[in-house]
Amino acid sequence: MGLLDGHRILVTGVLTDDSLAFGIAERCLAEGAEVIVTGAGRGLRLTTRTSRKLHHVGEVIALDVTNPLEIDMAVAAVTERFGRLDGLVHAIGFAPEACLGKGMFAASFEEVATALQVSTHSLALLSGAFRPLLQRSTAIGGASIIALDFDGSRAYPMYDWMGVMKAGLESLGRYLARELGPDHIRVNMLAAGPVRTLAAKSIPGFEQFEDTWSENAPLGWDVRDSSAVSDTAVALLSPLLRSTTGSIVFVDGGAHAMG
Ligand SMILES: NC(=O)c1ccc[n+]([C@@H]2O[C@H](COP(=O)([O-])OP(=O)(O)OC[C@H]3O[C@@H](n4cnc5c(N)ncnc54)[C@H](O)[C@@H]3O)[C@@H](O)[C@H]2O)c1
Repeated sequence: MGLLDGHRILVTGVLTDDSLAFGIAERCLAEGAEVIVTGAGRGLRLTTRTSRKLHHVGEVIALDVTNPLEIDMAVAAVTERFGRLDGLVHAIGFAPEACLGKGMFAASFEEVATALQVSTHSLALLSGAFRPLLQRSTAIGGASIIALDFDGSRAYPMYDWMGVMKAGLESLGRYLARELGPDHIRVNMLAAGPVRTLAAKSIPGFEQFEDTWSENAPLGWDVRDSSAVSDTAVALLSPLLRSTTGSIVFVDGGAHAMG
């Protein structure tokens, strides 16, 4: 018996085999869930190719969070295929180049606004759009929303405005947890340590994280291994963590807690 038997889960953010969302979708399927994968914009074809390696996910649904029409169409498509949702995985992040690695004075408001729209506000947008389907969850304890986070409580080198986006995401998660709790929908952050994905490689100086993280983490850390992130996602999506909401669960070898 799988931990997610009978669960219907929507997974955003699958781009390549290295995507955190790819590992999560793979583990969800292994635990008995049915999964729908979404893709966005120019990456949609790559998502389609990557998701062929995930058995039984069917056709990828287009869902660019900056396109309101696509969101409506995605909700309609998920309603038709699944009729309800027991889980929603938000693994979406993007910031224009000026927002990362150039300090806090390089980006214009428009650039910061784009980062906010895609990386932070999209969690509220998707939670609201899919709320009617999440309300229909038949899972023990109700539905679960998780968002991929990177410790927003500290200022890390080079992460700059993306750190601000993650701090906002963490706060948003608490407000969504407050509002959606009465619907038995929980909302939690999964704060991962650095993993070598396409998005991570676009952060200038990402190697600095790679070198220092494993030294700071009492449990050690491997930037090529996201299996602990996937396992924790399964736990958060499953009834095992049915009383946990508004929380940040760190999967980073313990680095965030060290002085
Ligand atoms: N890799 C890390 O070190 C790390 C650590 C902690 C948290 N995260 C977070 O994990 C999440 C997934 O990133 P990843 O590292 O797996 O990289 P990734 O490049 O594989 O995934 C990023 C995803 O964001 C999606 N995306 C970008 N713009 C979008 C839009 N307008 N609409 C819909 N989707 C859009 C892309 O299609 C892609 O699938 C991000 O939120 C990232 O901040 C990553």
